Amino acid sequence: MVTKAKYALITGACGGLGKAFVYELIKTDYTLLLTGRSEEKLETLKAELFAQFPGKEVRVYAADLASTESRLHLMQGLKEDGIRLSMLVNVAGADIQKGLAAYTEEKIAFQCRVNFEAAVSLCRFAIENRAERLEIINVSSVSGIYPMPYFAIYSATKGALTSFSQALRSEMKGKNVAVTAVLPGAMPTREDIKEQIKGQGLWGKLAAKTPKAVAKASIKAVKKNKRKLIVGFWNKVMRVATCWLPTSWRLKFIAKRWSKIEKDAF
Ligand SMILES: NC(=O)c1ccc[n+]([C@@H]2O[C@H](COP(=O)([O-])OP(=O)(O)OC[C@H]3O[C@@H](n4cnc5c(N)ncnc54)[C@H](OP(=O)(O)O)[C@@H]3O)[C@@H](O)[C@H]2O)c1
Repeated sequence: MVTKAKYALITGACGGLGKAFVYELIKTDYTLLLTGRSEEKLETLKAELFAQFPGKEVRVYAADLASTESRLHLMQGLKEDGIRLSMLVNVAGADIQKGLAAYTEEKIAFQCRVNFEAAVSLCRFAIENRAERLEIINVSSVSGIYPMPYFAIYSATKGALTSFSQALRSEMKGKNVAVTAVLPGAMPTREDIKEQIKGQGLWGKLAAKTPKAVAKASIKAVKKNKRKLIVGFWNKVMRVATCWLPTSWRLKFIAKRWSKIEKDAF
C-alpha cells in the first residue's frame, strides 16, 4: 500500500556521520528508514530514538551494501512496504588507508562497492521509487578532489561519487529530483579519526567539523539543490590554494604524509 508519509532512507545510519543525519532528520517530518549491516545496532538505535522521540516512526532494514544480493533484498523490502522515497542519504563508506600492494582482491571489491556502487545503485532505486519530490545527499569527501597515494582507492571512489552526483543532478533537471555531493573534510567520528585529526595539529583544529555540523549543512544544501558542498571555510581555502600547485608536487606531498598511516576497514 502506498502511503503519504515522507520517507528518508539513511545508509550507514549507526556510524558517526550517519547518526548525526538521523538526529537532524528525526526532528523534521520525515519517517526515517535506517540501514546498516548489524540488525542489533539498528535495533539499539531505534530504541534510543524511540525513548527520545516517542511517537516518531523509525524503521530499520539490515543490509550489507557491498553485496548485490543483500542490496536487492533491501530494495525488495522497501518496495513491499510501499515506500516512495523523499530523501536518500548515502553515508555508508569504507576508508581503507594503505598502498595497493597491501590490498586483497576482497578488500578492493568491498571498498569500491560500498563507496561507489552501492550509492549509485540506491540512487537508481530511489529515482524509480520516488515520491513527488526526491532529495539525494551523496556523502563523498575532500579526499576525492585530488589523487591520493596510499589512500588511492578511497580517493578514487569518492572522486567518482562526486562526479556521478553532479552528472545525475544534471540528468534530473526539471524532474523534481535534487542531488547534492557533500565533500566533508575530517570529522571526529571514530577514535582512529580523532587521533588522526589530533596529529594534524593546528590544521586539524581549524579544518575538522563535527558530524552534526556536516549533517546540518548537507540538509540545507540539498534543500537548495546545491551541486556540491565542501564543508567548512578552511577546507574551501585549502581547495582553492592547492589547485594551483603542480600535480607532481601534490602527489609527492600526499605520498610522504599518507604513507605513514595504515588502516583497514571491515
Ligand atoms: N570521518 C571523516 O573524517 C570523514 C571525512 C570525509 C568523508 N567521510 C565519509 O563520511 C561517511 C561516514 O563516515 P564516518 O566517519 O561516520 O564513518 P563510520 O562511523 O565508520 O561509518 C561508516 C558507516 O558505513 C557503514 N558501512 C560500511 N560498510 C558497509 C557495508 N558493507 N554495508 C552497509 N553499510 C556499511 C557502516 O555501517 P555498519 O558498520 O553499521 O554496517 C558505518 O555505519 C563515509 O562515507 C566516509 O567516507 C568521513
